[in-house]
Amino acid sequence: MTAVGIDAVEVWTGNLKLDLAETFAPEKGDDPEKYTKGLGLRASSFPDSYEDIVTMGANASKELMDRKGLTPDDIGRIDVATESSFDNSKPISTYIAGCLEQVYDGDFHHANKGERKFACIAGTQSVDDAYNWIRAGRNRGRSAIVVATDTALYARGDAGEATQGAGAVALLISEDPDLVELSTHQGYGSADETDFLKPNQQFPSVDGKRSVQVYLARMREALEDYESVAGDVHIDDFVYAPFHTPFPGMVRKAAALAYRHVTRDTGVEEELAEGIGRQPRRESFDDDGQYEEAVREYMDALKETEQYRDWYAGTVDPTLSIARDVGNWYTASVHLARISALKTALETGRDVAGESMLVASYGSGAQAEIHGETVQDGWEEEIAALDIDEQVADRYDLSWAEYEQVHDRHNHETDSELEEFTAPEAEFVFDGWGRMGERKYTYVE
Ligand code: COA
Repeated sequence: MTAVGIDAVEVWTGNLKLDLAETFAPEKGDDPEKYTKGLGLRASSFPDSYEDIVTMGANASKELMDRKGLTPDDIGRIDVATESSFDNSKPISTYIAGCLEQVYDGDFHHANKGERKFACIAGTQSVDDAYNWIRAGRNRGRSAIVVATDTALYARGDAGEATQGAGAVALLISEDPDLVELSTHQGYGSADETDFLKPNQQFPSVDGKRSVQVYLARMREALEDYESVAGDVHIDDFVYAPFHTPFPGMVRKAAALAYRHVTRDTGVEEELAEGIGRQPRRESFDDDGQYEEAVREYMDALKETEQYRDWYAGTVDPTLSIARDVGNWYTASVHLARISALKTALETGRDVAGESMLVASYGSGAQAEIHGETVQDGWEEEIAALDIDEQVADRYDLSWAEYEQVHDRHNHETDSELEEFTAPEAEFVFDGWGRMGERKYTYVE
């Protein structure tokens, strides 16, 4: 069977930055470590006044096409995943294709376009759609572009305000991919949940604490479902485990639970038992309360063990390096986690070709999905070509007053104009409104 997977990726961050320790925490009267240590975030990315989900997605897609030497004729499908859409009918992929047609010869009239919605998991679902389209033999030798693009904004004063972010990841899905091959094994955990939703409103109604619990519950189901098709997961099977990262502290919780799950009834549990005892089993306790207390104690002890710390430092922490500086990118977040991991491998001189990654996506509402990927021989060249460090370093650092103006500027309810803080260069920009209320874009050299 021909390999199908992610051939290349490109990233585009919003051009502005809000520093959480220096700017956000003092304004809220909080200890900066609540953000840097507790949530695990240093800063969030924000869109400048001329940026939005279309410009960020189009800019990432253009970088992808330029770097891979692609023309519109090479692309048979453009899917966008977003939970920040401003149009209930016309998909964001048509706006992005329109942008790209301004700068390339030819057009995308032959390309199937759509938009996927299921909170943050929609990016992974769009990758699945592209994979299935190629596997079904309907691609006529063409590749698909999947764009995960979001402005993750919360109402001011919401607990989620510290976890905002803005950016896009464009992924090229092809046969014989250079970056990762996708496995056919998948596990799902999906249920009707009310943890985070936007019923025809821009900013989410979110029950933050509950969303953390739902994330963990659905991930656990997805892991069990994955194991039912792929066999038991062993802790050393995967070189990295990129998770959906609303904030790194969330992944810290999920990783510890995953570790406990996959080491149960294994030699690792026995080895650890000398220091911290065996894992509590429900049948050994009279009631749920006692059992849950024992689990909490076991987890606290587990997180202090050398075995767990080494595994976390090697397999999970490298997936968080970009998220720490840019915040939550919703649909793009798990795809940024994959890039962070491979970028760390490159920086530390680790050859991961042929190694497997366990990728764990999540969307509120709620669904988790877990699948395996195999790193391909071309990974080093693909990752070395990214300029995400420069993009992150070049962002304009907002003061608190400027942050409030930027938040208002992107609030669909307030019609506020704002001078840009950065000068756009070689990128698509929002250029005003058309006669039917459509947003218009142009390319700035
Ligand atoms: N030093 C170190 N850590 C600190 C700290 C300090 N001074 N102050 C607080 N913390 C820790 C807390 O202990 C907590 O960690 P823990 O959960 O491991 O105990 C963490 O920082 C966050 O503090 P908390 O008081 O829970 O923050 P909060 O009430 O402001 O909100 C969320 C946290 C996640 C509920 C909020 O950010 C949110 O609503 N986010 C949006 C929804 C979301 O992303 N959900 C995730 C699933 S998709």
